[in-house]
Amino acid sequence: MPDHLPRREVLRTAGALGLGAAAAGALSSTAVATTQAGSAAGTPDKLAAMGAHHGKLEIRKDPFGTTPEGVAVDVYTFTNGRVTISMLTWGATIQRVETPDRRGRTKNISLGFDNLPDYAALSPYFGATIGRYGNRIAKGRFTLDGTTYQIPVNNGENALHGGTIGFDKKVWKAKTVRTDDSVGVAFSYVSPDGEMGFPGELSTTVTYTLDRRDNLRIDYQATVAGKPTVVNLTNHVYFNLAGEGSGSIDDHVLELNASSYTPVDAGLIPTGEIAPVAGTPFDFNKPTPIGARLRGDHPQLIVGRGYDHNFVLGGKTDHDGLRFAARFWEPEDGRTVTVHTDQPGAQFYSGNFLDGTFLGIGNKAYRQGDAFAFETQHFPDSPNQPNFPSTVLRPGETYATTTIYTFGTK
Ligand code: GLA
Repeated sequence: MPDHLPRREVLRTAGALGLGAAAAGALSSTAVATTQAGSAAGTPDKLAAMGAHHGKLEIRKDPFGTTPEGVAVDVYTFTNGRVTISMLTWGATIQRVETPDRRGRTKNISLGFDNLPDYAALSPYFGATIGRYGNRIAKGRFTLDGTTYQIPVNNGENALHGGTIGFDKKVWKAKTVRTDDSVGVAFSYVSPDGEMGFPGELSTTVTYTLDRRDNLRIDYQATVAGKPTVVNLTNHVYFNLAGEGSGSIDDHVLELNASSYTPVDAGLIPTGEIAPVAGTPFDFNKPTPIGARLRGDHPQLIVGRGYDHNFVLGGKTDHDGLRFAARFWEPEDGRTVTVHTDQPGAQFYSGNFLDGTFLGIGNKAYRQGDAFAFETQHFPDSPNQPNFPSTVLRPGETYATTTIYTFGTK
C-alpha cells in the first residue's frame, strides 16, 4: 500500500496549514485535478475556499487510486457552501461528510479511509452503496419461480450485502449532475446475469445529490433483463455526529418512527416475526439516547451485540411519498441527521462489530459503538420470508426508491 503514508502526510500538512479536506485531497493530486461544472479548482487556496460560500453549489473530481486490476478510481467532492460530501467511484461510496455544528465548526462526521487499499481490504462497508441485496439472505439461498439460486456466503453460513464481491467492491461509472438547486453524482453499474449467483442482468443507477437546504438525496433505480431477480439496495454510511473517530455514540439521541421490528436468530436472520417495540429497548418513538438501554438484558440486544435490527417504518408519508424514518441528535455539538424514505424498513446498526483493529481517515481506531448506520431498505432475507414485502424485480419493471439524509443542528 505505497500511497498510505504519503496521503496521511498530505492530510496532516493540510491540517497544519488550516486547509479543509477538499484541499487536502487536492494537494495529493496536484495538477491532475479535473475541474467539473466550472468550479474553481486547481490551487489549494481556491479549494480551501470552496466550502466557504454558503449556497454556492460546486463539484470537482480528483483521482483517488487504482485497483490492483488497473482500474482508476475517482473521488468527487461536492458542496453547497456549508455541507461538503466526498464520494468515490469505488462502491459509489460516501467517503466524507463535512457539516457544521451548532457553533459553525465543521467536521467530518462519516467513517471512512483516506486511501483505496484500506477500502478494499478493511472496510466494513463504510459509506458504500450496497447491492444486489442489502443485509442477509439465509444460507445465501433462495428460490424464485421454481429455480433455486445460491449466493456465495460471507457471513457465517449466510450471504451479507450481496455476497463476497458485492456492489460495494465495484468501480461504478460516474456522471456529474446539476440543477439550479442541487449538485451531485449519478453512479451506474451493470451487474451481469449470474454475478454473485443472482439471476438476470441488473442495470443500476444511484444518484446522490446535495441541495441548498442540506439534503443529501439518494435516488436508486434498477431494471433487470433476461430473468427476474431480487433487489434490495441501500447505503451503508456510518455517522458519528460529534466527528468520526471521536468516541462512542451512546449519547446520541434517536427518534425512530417504528412501532415494530423484525427479531433475529443467532445468525441475525429474521425469525419471520413482526414484533411490537412497545415496552422494549427497541422503542425509540420518544427520543432516547442510544446507550440508555444498550447494556440491558433484552435477548435481542444480546443476539445483536447491540442494535443490529430491521425496524418496520410506520406512519404517514409526507412530501414526495417519503415518510419520516428517524432523527439522530448529538446534544454536545448539536448536529442532527434526519432520514426520510419510501422504503418499508431500516436496519439500525450501533457499530457493534467495530473492534479497534484499524485506523480510519482521521488516524483514529474505530471501536465498538463509535458510529451508527441507518440503512433504509426492504427487510433482510425477504426472498425467503413470504410474509415480508416482496423484493422481486421482473423484466419490464423499474425499481425506484428514494432516501434523504438531512443535516442540521439543534
Ligand atoms: C449491517 C449488518 C451488520 C454488519 C454491518 C457491516 O449493518 O446488519 O450485522 O454486518 O452491516 O459490518
